[in-house]
Amino acid sequence: MDQKSIPQKILEHVQKHAIKGNVSNVIDTIDNFCYKFEREAINVGDEKGKYLDEIVKSCSPKTALEIGAYAGYSALRISRALPADGKLYSIEYNEHHAEVTRKMIQYAGMDNKVTVLCGSSPDVIKSLTVSGFDFVFLDHTKELYKPDLLLLEECNLIHSGSVIAADNIVFPGCPEYLEYVRNSPKYECTTYMSKLEYSDREDGIEKAVYKKQT
Ligand SMILES: C[S@@+](CC[C@H](N)C(=O)[O-])C[C@H]1O[C@@H](n2cnc3c(N)ncnc32)[C@H](O)[C@@H]1O
Repeated sequence: MDQKSIPQKILEHVQKHAIKGNVSNVIDTIDNFCYKFEREAINVGDEKGKYLDEIVKSCSPKTALEIGAYAGYSALRISRALPADGKLYSIEYNEHHAEVTRKMIQYAGMDNKVTVLCGSSPDVIKSLTVSGFDFVFLDHTKELYKPDLLLLEECNLIHSGSVIAADNIVFPGCPEYLEYVRNSPKYECTTYMSKLEYSDREDGIEKAVYKKQT
């Protein structure tokens, strides 16, 4: 029986078949592999990924944060969409996923733009020394989307104009988070409906722009 994790299988496939240092080719190689062999993979995927790219490009972030790295797929998409001097911090609590992500980022030649921080999101957020984030991608434990966003607010790690993108708003869903951002006067929301990764099931991304209260 094959005991390798899905992220490990994705990484090994990339190292064997993708062009080293070519981030777009690495992204396409991951999508093709997952469509053919690993439909259970939980990368944001190519369908929602297009919206993720669009959202990142629209705010041109100098400093970006992602929570939930898995195999590094969304970190590749986000870092590719950043401006030349943009940096992405990616938080991942599973040590194996963090290690796979570091190797994936290095293979794609994006290690000058991405730093993987291994630890649980609330602990890592509290320990961050950066001044704040222009863009945040939430793609980890769905019940933590709202508490982690509140923590980012409390720690002054987001500012007026910061853009928060949340994955899986339909499946598996994040109702408490959506209820908060859609009803708070501090956020202006846009919904991007799409498909769950590598399937025909409905899913989407919620964009929330923070308008800090004075
Ligand atoms: C859906 S996957 C992320 C997929 C990735 N964003 C992509 O699109 O390529 C969720 C990841 O979040 C991690 N995770 C879950 N809860 C977390 C937490 N509280 N802190 C840090 N990482 C967490 C899991 O280990 C898993 O690797």
